[in-house]
Amino acid sequence: HVFDNSANASKAVAQQIAALIKEKQSQNKTCVLGLATGSSPKSLYAELVRLHREEQLSFKNVITFNLDEYYPMKAESIHSYVRFMNEQLFDHIDILKVNIHIPDGTLAKNEIAGFCTQYEDQIEKAGGIDLQILGIGGNGHIGFNESGSLQNSKTRLVALDHSTRIAASKEFEGLKHTPRTAITLGVHKIMEAKRVILLAWGESKSAIIAKAVEEGLTNLVPASFLQEHQHVDFVLDKEAASKL
Ligand code: GLP
Repeated sequence: HVFDNSANASKAVAQQIAALIKEKQSQNKTCVLGLATGSSPKSLYAELVRLHREEQLSFKNVITFNLDEYYPMKAESIHSYVRFMNEQLFDHIDILKVNIHIPDGTLAKNEIAGFCTQYEDQIEKAGGIDLQILGIGGNGHIGFNESGSLQNSKTRLVALDHSTRIAASKEFEGLKHTPRTAITLGVHKIMEAKRVILLAWGESKSAIIAKAVEEGLTNLVPASFLQEHQHVDFVLDKEAASKL
C-alpha cells in the first residue's frame, strides 16, 4: 500500500488497529498487539494517542509485546525502548500496566535464555499476536533479527550488525557508546502473528524494500521471510516504494 506521505499512511494503519481493538471489545476479547520501536512507528503511535483522546478509543482490552530491547539497558535510560514506548504511547493511553511486555535489558546474562522462553510462553498464553507492527532496518532486519537470522529463530540475545550500530550511534553519542547486543523476538514468533503490517518511509528504505518484496526469500534479508506470511501488508510512502 503506497501513500503520498507517512502521516496519511499512519492514519490508515491506526484506523485498522482501532477497528481490530473495537471488534475484540465487542466480543469481550483481548487484542494482542506486537509493537515496534524506531522512528517509523512514531506517527502511528501519535495517531493512536489522538484516537484515544479525541475519539475515546480505549486500550483496556489491549495486551502488547514489544519486539526488542538493547542489552544491557536500564529501563530508565533515555535510550531504552521502555522509555520510548512510554513516551510515544503508553503514558498517553489507558492501557493497563500489567498488559505491557518489553524484553528486559536489565537481566543477568544467565537469566536471558529463561526470560526469552518465558516471553514466548506469555505470548502463547495471551492467545498469540493478533497484529504485529514492524519497521525494517536498512539491512532488512525485523526486530533485531539481523542478516543471517533463521526463519525459525527463537527469542534470543543477538549481536547487532555493524550497520545497525552505526544507524543507532546517532542516538548514543557515537559508536563507542552504542550497545553491541540486544534481545529480540525471533522470526518464528513474528511469522506466527495472525497479521503483520510493516511500515517504511523515505528514500533510504527504498532499496531494502525492493529486495524484501521482489527478490527471493533469503536469510540475508530477514524481512523477505514475510513473503511466506498469509496476511502481511507493507505500508509505504512513495519514496520508500520508489524502487518497486
Ligand atoms: C531498530 C529497531 C527495529 C526497527 C529499525 C528501523 O533497529 N530495533 O525494530 O525496525 O530500528 O528503525 P527506523 O524505523 O528508525 O528506521
